[in-house]
Amino acid sequence: MTDEKLLAEIAAFIGQEAMHSKAHAEFNDAWRSDDYNLDRFQAWLARKDRYVKNLHPKIQLAITCAFEHFTALLGGYILRHPEVLSTLDDDAIKLWVWHAIEEIEHRAVAFDVYQHVYGDDKIRRMIMRSVTTGFASLTFYSATRLFLQDKKKSLPKVGGNVFGIYLLGKMFVQLVPEYLSYYKAGFHPAEIDYSKIVGYWKTRLSEDYQFEGFQDHQTQILYS
Ligand SMILES: [Fe+2]
Ligand SMILES: [Fe+2]
Repeated sequence: MTDEKLLAEIAAFIGQEAMHSKAHAEFNDAWRSDDYNLDRFQAWLARKDRYVKNLHPKIQLAITCAFEHFTALLGGYILRHPEVLSTLDDDAIKLWVWHAIEEIEHRAVAFDVYQHVYGDDKIRRMIMRSVTTGFASLTFYSATRLFLQDKKKSLPKVGGNVFGIYLLGKMFVQLVPEYLSYYKAGFHPAEIDYSKIVGYWKTRLSEDYQFEGFQDHQTQILYS
């Protein structure tokens, strides 16, 4: 890959993730006004963020590669199994589908930069192992805390809870092969093909939800 092409992809990646952070912040604000207190998690995350920013750039980049693998996998799963979004309203579905598509689109950018600059598979795998443990425990911990904050309403919904746990379990089991592919020698994120499912959802977003074009949307972000 040429340096110019990679630089353009990095710029697009930054633009997309900047928009995601904004969307996450708005989504969290909408939640905050409900029953959920997110401040403690956010303070905890800010501390982690400060810690990560002091690590060697190689490690920071390897962490990004690991997270990008997770977000692409989860994005792909959402698009293939939209039933996981069935309890959400149209706006929230749009938000998650849009995010999922962008995670898939830019899944190889950090990876390509890492390979270009460092190309150290040993560290890449090692960091993936620690990110996996950290990410899994954080997700489990925060989901449990949020569930308990809302326990008066959420506990009595036994059927819904059992179904939710079933959906999550099914997702983890089905994602194992794609997750493990990251540890293979010569792995590249582009080898997981999402073209058909992404094409399907892009059409649905524009037809069913009159969602603006992805490229136009991105150009606006980059040059506004
Ligand atoms: Fe994102
Ligand atoms: Fe991403």
